[in-house]
Amino acid sequence: MEKEYYEEIKNWDFSMFEIETEKLTNWDLYELINNYATEKSKILDLGTGGGEKLLDYFPDCAEIMGTDLAPSMIETANNNLIKSGRKNITFKVMDNLNMNVPNDYFDIVVARNTVTDPKQIYKSLKKGGYLLLHGVDKYDCHNLKLIFGRGQAYNDQKAISIIDYENILKAGFKDVELVPLHVREYFKNKELFIEFLKKVPVIDDFSEELGDHKQYFSNNLNEELLDKYIKENTYNGKIRLLRRYYGITARKF
Ligand SMILES: C[S@@+](CC[C@H](N)C(=O)[O-])C[C@H]1O[C@@H](n2cnc3c(N)ncnc32)[C@H](O)[C@@H]1O
Repeated sequence: MEKEYYEEIKNWDFSMFEIETEKLTNWDLYELINNYATEKSKILDLGTGGGEKLLDYFPDCAEIMGTDLAPSMIETANNNLIKSGRKNITFKVMDNLNMNVPNDYFDIVVARNTVTDPKQIYKSLKKGGYLLLHGVDKYDCHNLKLIFGRGQAYNDQKAISIIDYENILKAGFKDVELVPLHVREYFKNKELFIEFLKKVPVIDDFSEELGDHKQYFSNNLNEELLDKYIKENTYNGKIRLLRRYYGITARKF
């Protein structure tokens, strides 16, 4: 079900939503990747989607591999790669929970808004290598979820950030840091906001905790509830969404 969902989406290009972003914390995944990478680095991007972020923000280096479970995402990524004209980058279909990469190979493994198995990531990293993870936390868009009475991770007992943090420690990583990330996102109008909610699983009953038991309903948005949210969360003519992400940095020694 999850794979079909991603197959259908085909890309993670968000530019059409014209979102204005205001960061309240200064942890930045791409800044960290650029700080840690050298021209000799080998980087793995797990759950790369259509490679949009990788192609725009990852630095040039010896090797970058982007992987995703959905073949349609990898097809998009390969098309985006050709358009970008970038070198030393390959994309392949791979399940993050059944990784098929060499051991002790990568200098940096990146995972942004995707599922991971820290033990497998640990194996794939060289000694001294970094894991850089970015995720969507339990209380992301919480006021929207409260109005709808549902949403991604809405019923999870334990926040996914804590689950990830603990699993990363258990996998043997050292120097592990979990940073909560607070971001305000603004939408110019209701139409763009609706299109966004149809694309992302914010108010769908998506649960990291429940694994495969995922359902998604965002195509039937309740107009009344949506209007209530918009009325209560419009500032200077723009609809505000309060995002709650998290970043984790960890090292293999
Ligand atoms: C929200 S998107 C994030 C894409 C990209 N990392 C970004 O930041 O724009 C999540 C991606 O993870 C992929 N994905 C989900 N479960 C996966 C798994 N078990 N193995 C590999 N990729 C997976 C999906 O196909 C989707 O492209």
